[in-house]
Amino acid sequence: MRITGCLLAASLAATATLANAKPFHAVTGGKDPQWQKAVEEARALVAKLTLEEKIIAVTGMGWEAGKCVGDIAPIPSINFTGLCLNDSPTGLRWTDRASAFPASMNVAATWDKRLMFMHGIAMGKEFRGKGAHVALAPMMNLARVPEAGRNWEGQGPDPYLTSVVSAEQIKGIQNQGVIACAKHYVGNEVEHFRRNSSSNIDDRAFHELYLAPFRASVDAGVLSIMCGYNMVNNTQACGNDYIINDVLKGQLGFQGFVMTDWFATYDGLNVALAGTDMMMPGDAVEPTKRNWPNVKPYTFGGKGSFWWKNLTSLVEDGQVPVDLLDDKVTRILAAWIRAGQRVNFPETNLHVWDPKSSKHVHVSEGHDALIRDIGAASSVLLKNTGSLPLSALKGTSVALIGSGAGPGTHWPGYYRSHAGYEGNLAQGWGSGTSNFPYLISPHHGITDRARKDGIDVRWTFDDWDTEAAIATANLADAAIVFVSSNSGEAHLNVDGNQGDRNNLTLWKNGDELIKAVADHHNNVIVVVNAVGPVDMLPWAEHENVTGIIFAGLPGQESGNAIADVLFGDVNPSGRLPFTINRKREDYPAVLDYTNPNYPEPLQINYTESLLIDYRWNDAKNIEPLFPFGFGKSYSIFGYSAPSGYNPNPYTISVSFEVTNLAGPDGAEVVQLYIGYPEGTGEPPKVLRGFEKVFIKSGESERVEFQFGRKELEIWDVVKQQWEVPVGNYTMYIGNSSRHIKIKADFEIAEDAPVREGMPEGYVPEELEEVQIEVQEESPIEKETIAPKEGEPETGKEEPTHIKDEL
Ligand code: BGC
Repeated sequence: MRITGCLLAASLAATATLANAKPFHAVTGGKDPQWQKAVEEARALVAKLTLEEKIIAVTGMGWEAGKCVGDIAPIPSINFTGLCLNDSPTGLRWTDRASAFPASMNVAATWDKRLMFMHGIAMGKEFRGKGAHVALAPMMNLARVPEAGRNWEGQGPDPYLTSVVSAEQIKGIQNQGVIACAKHYVGNEVEHFRRNSSSNIDDRAFHELYLAPFRASVDAGVLSIMCGYNMVNNTQACGNDYIINDVLKGQLGFQGFVMTDWFATYDGLNVALAGTDMMMPGDAVEPTKRNWPNVKPYTFGGKGSFWWKNLTSLVEDGQVPVDLLDDKVTRILAAWIRAGQRVNFPETNLHVWDPKSSKHVHVSEGHDALIRDIGAASSVLLKNTGSLPLSALKGTSVALIGSGAGPGTHWPGYYRSHAGYEGNLAQGWGSGTSNFPYLISPHHGITDRARKDGIDVRWTFDDWDTEAAIATANLADAAIVFVSSNSGEAHLNVDGNQGDRNNLTLWKNGDELIKAVADHHNNVIVVVNAVGPVDMLPWAEHENVTGIIFAGLPGQESGNAIADVLFGDVNPSGRLPFTINRKREDYPAVLDYTNPNYPEPLQINYTESLLIDYRWNDAKNIEPLFPFGFGKSYSIFGYSAPSGYNPNPYTISVSFEVTNLAGPDGAEVVQLYIGYPEGTGEPPKVLRGFEKVFIKSGESERVEFQFGRKELEIWDVVKQQWEVPVGNYTMYIGNSSRHIKIKADFEIAEDAPVREGMPEGYVPEELEEVQIEVQEESPIEKETIAPKEGEPETGKEEPTHIKDEL
């Protein structure tokens, strides 16, 4: 199956006026008629602009010069309102009367496309309500290294899961007329040396992994993309002609505009020629603040700008063709028009630099319920030997242990951009944060809920006083220990962690606290609020640790969401968006905390190539502690034998029934992994589909996966195109990367037609049976069925075979 058609969607239209500048991909609006119309209208506006006005449209006003984190000034002559660009993926940064959403890592952990979209809608509504035109979200760098500081802002290490979450969020945000921004393009996977390092990525891993979420974003219609601080294969990302002009605007046919990350440029000319359209925040940072060698910024005003008057000169000198400048302005204005911001867009009413002068508009109405839903749906139950849900403890008592259970002495915003924390950890630190309007601590949420069941609550918030922890635990029937691990952005250091975590161990005496309590109490439940995987081996297998919940960073409703799952008001359905390994050495990539060749840029070689996260475990036969995609429920689910067919020659469809065999109503996350034909060089299996299905107790739901070219294609580095390899494939369907319930073979034959050739409205003449050979019926693991509320514990074990069940 040869795939060529989709790669060259954008036309290589405009030609440069000068010999040294190569042709660029002029904006057309692509296949979207509304975007095409917006481009036409934008072109008409650009035709009216002076050179000075065009420069205004592409250069930010400067750091702290406007009301937002970044601002483009208005151009009154064409009634352009200007643009307010504001962080973050967790909601509006540095303002009030808005929500503190869960981290995107949590949104990913829901594996629920509806919640991903709803999250985007709610974000979009809030940004719109404040008059913020561009939401600097979502962030989609992959969690290649577990310590990387900003992993929690993204959606984990898997390119497919990240692509789906990002696309849903973008659709939601833009549905509200706000421009989403896919960031950081590309390879900005760690914080150390992010301004002075090169992410060296082979062509295939670049296309199949790191580009994938950006490709999905373009398919979802994203209107803007942010290029990163780092270099890619030793060329600065924002000045990288290959990744921006050739790949983004050429191969992917991106029609929106590319903005720089904040101060992520080191010259003006290359950045302009490479295809970057907007300089943010506009001014260059003082060289003394930058560890970049030989920087000679142009000077403009006090701080200097690589564009602004310098871009004017570059255009006047003919070094930057005026057509190219026009294309940049057209892209920006077309995005503004396409988003519908020309009419009825609220005036910018926040002011992040002078909060007192903001209008304090309330934009969060009703979002607390959604935030709580996402929080509960993203809580991953990793271990349960029968202690959960807590409702079985009616009329008894629980002890809450550790500072993570409580409110801090100060609210999270006491520390600028949350660089410091006390109490429950519900977001990391840095530009990915939002102001908390309030924060429900676990103590608050659990107390509210426990009262309904007549459960007494005892607590101690001192992480270091293990004696008090033991004594308090011993007053209760269950001890819940709250532990954490934090990270954030590099410009802020928290407890010696420069953005990236120094290690994967728990902070604040977490291991010792758990072990002390578990050595003295036989019913200990651990709740982890963390930015990613933590070392759990010191205590996860302790026989008195009867339950583990990975709650991630749930945002403002943290305590309520955790209580929902603990008490069984919500049947847990979160699944890990990453692997938790038994030891650090089991992860494929390391983090370089030093650069031996400084001031030369650090070389970060992505040597594991395609083998990120579970793909590495599979390829190297490493047993994880908790695998990617894993999470327990209070119910047990069974799978029927599958059947498959070709709805058309381009697609394979497989369907089967999932039954909620025992336990309460709940949701199963069914995952589809593909194993490629031998010799293709692909990892043993890769995620290519998932569905979250809600199933009432005792009932069944039919689940269907349809996949084809889009899911199967891989990047051919020789032909420089996407191809679907012919040969024998295996599909693995299960509820984690290591819990496979259905394993089946299928074949892609040489003559399979390409998707592009499919006629509009194609109706298949006859449905062909696909050869699906069930190789093995994977047993349902033996588990103890959680009792339904009010029922006594049965201790009954599930039978071990699917067939016996259904
Ligand atoms: C971050 C971006 C952010 C920008 C504006 C940069 O340091 O990398 O993600 O949007 O600042 O705050």
